[in-house]
Amino acid sequence: MSNISIDKINEIRNSVDIVDVISRYLNVVKKGKNYFAICPFHNDTNPSLSISREKQIYKCFVCGEGGNVITFIQKYKKIPYIDALKEIALIGGVTLNIQENVKREIIDPKIQVLYDLLEDATKYYQTALSSSQSAINYVTQRELHSDILHEFRIGYSLDDEKMIKYLKSKKYSEEDMIRSGLVIETENGTLKDRFANRLIFPIQDIQGRVVAFSGRVIEKSTLAKYLNSPETEIFIKGNTLYHYHSALNSIKKSKKVYICEGFMDVIALFKANISNAIALMGTAFTKEHLKILKFLGVNVVLSLDSDNAGRLATKKLATELEKENINVQIVSDYDEVKDADEYYNRYGMSQLLLKVQNPITFFEFNVNEMKKSSLLQDNLEERKKFAHNMCRYLAKKDDLEIDFYLNKMVEDLKFPKTTLLKLVKKEKEKQNSNYIPTNFTMNQRLLKRNEKIKSDVVFQMIQSSEAIEEFQKEEVYFSMQDDCYKTLIMYILDYYLENKNFTEADLYSYISNINPNDDEIIKTLTEVLNTHEMAPIYTKEYFKDLIYEIKEIMTLEQKIDFLKEKLEYIADPKEKGNITNEIILLNQQLKQKKFKTKE
Ligand code: CTP
Ligand code: MN
Repeated sequence: MSNISIDKINEIRNSVDIVDVISRYLNVVKKGKNYFAICPFHNDTNPSLSISREKQIYKCFVCGEGGNVITFIQKYKKIPYIDALKEIALIGGVTLNIQENVKREIIDPKIQVLYDLLEDATKYYQTALSSSQSAINYVTQRELHSDILHEFRIGYSLDDEKMIKYLKSKKYSEEDMIRSGLVIETENGTLKDRFANRLIFPIQDIQGRVVAFSGRVIEKSTLAKYLNSPETEIFIKGNTLYHYHSALNSIKKSKKVYICEGFMDVIALFKANISNAIALMGTAFTKEHLKILKFLGVNVVLSLDSDNAGRLATKKLATELEKENINVQIVSDYDEVKDADEYYNRYGMSQLLLKVQNPITFFEFNVNEMKKSSLLQDNLEERKKFAHNMCRYLAKKDDLEIDFYLNKMVEDLKFPKTTLLKLVKKEKEKQNSNYIPTNFTMNQRLLKRNEKIKSDVVFQMIQSSEAIEEFQKEEVYFSMQDDCYKTLIMYILDYYLENKNFTEADLYSYISNINPNDDEIIKTLTEVLNTHEMAPIYTKEYFKDLIYEIKEIMTLEQKIDFLKEKLEYIADPKEKGNITNEIILLNQQLKQKKFKTKE
């Protein structure tokens, strides 16, 4: 929960008008009382996002996104709730003092010692570099000058022992050295620096703490080129992105992040004054990586290797990122060289800069890939497959882009443009029909009866304080599996306790403030509001009926639970059978109640 009071949040929210703010980002048109826009949260063609000036909320009738002005900025820009709040405060001219120093998490001393140990080792390796002539020669040859050595904390391990002796002098135990992944026990029981005679690249976690190392051989050798720390209590490779923490400011400022494969590629970009680059350390892209990128909410430029593995990874990453609505561009491949570092070495800094600052779209990347594959030249099946894939992709684009790209494809695919256009149109229709058409009656039919009851109860409670009072009087507890509605009701009751009066927009703020990532609850709230767009307002009789129905269902559920328990300790097969029959009967009644469609 953010430490900003709900009053302050409401002050910020009230300092702006939702229609004005959304108009900054979307083309908003007035229809009757409400305003409408093309919804940015799904592939929308007709304006289905409605914005209410009166209620200060927005809702999409198709995809179910909704919220107040703060939620909008949070979702639209894909930034944390607190940042959205800051932005609205800025627009509305409200001063907001947030204590930036987040409470320091308390770390288990057994874990802390690993961080300390690796930090000390990093410093030691950094100093050691200057005492090895071969290491100096190597870094000079790769143009790793002192500014780079400093920024990336690059070091060198002199031999099997020196670093261990140093750590001993700092009173670290052998056990901790092994736990840190830095030291290995040889067969005859002696300890040995895992990274002996290697150039050291410290790897930091997203908070900037050194959690592992990667060591590169500096002379021709049959040993692996790079050797990494094993996974330890504080290092999971798949959760880590090289140079992330140091690049963060620059990423946020430029709203862009470059993703490379290797250490030396990030460094090459850094030499070309691009400080917002990070590396996967290979081509593996994990769910955790995706989560980090989603959280960043910035544009992504893929700058992976131009070999097969790199291009395959590019395709995979671009597909996954686009699925998450993250804007992706691709550095068209590094021509005859393999990666950014080699490109720098061959063509120099300004050419590298030119290259990475002019990325292509994923679409163009795919077209290029197609051109490369000689198969396509005369294989009709392959050409057809490609055309279908591309048209499916194009169906998500606007008319101008479709036109632009189709012109390109005609050349490459040798199919007439009119035919391709037909394919795109077909795809468009197909994709649109995947959305459930939603209006009031349709939504009502889709909701199962017991969901409808709960949804109605929530809506009435938002509408009227009388409903809240009524609800509190009756002792209603929803069964456990209904946690979304239940949580929503908890929020309403809590908020009501503090602030008697509230609007729909207030409720959104309140929920987001307590739990900024509770998307599911926000969605449920929006759905409740959507499905009740034209519903009658609160009446006591109707509300009482709803509560009665809930209680009926509850009673049935309790009876079933009771009988199920009884079944466990009854041995007599005849009685067992009777009870089982009874349970089946009750279950049928329960189903009827829950799934009844029309009241
Ligand atoms: N990598 C790794 N472990 C390995 C091999 C590679 O972690 N055993 C990671 C490293 O981060 C490396 C990246 O994968 O930087 C890409 O590997 P590769 O293309 O083989 O190396 P380069 O980055 O080209 O390294 P260099 O320029 O130093 O030869
Ligand atoms: Mn390289």
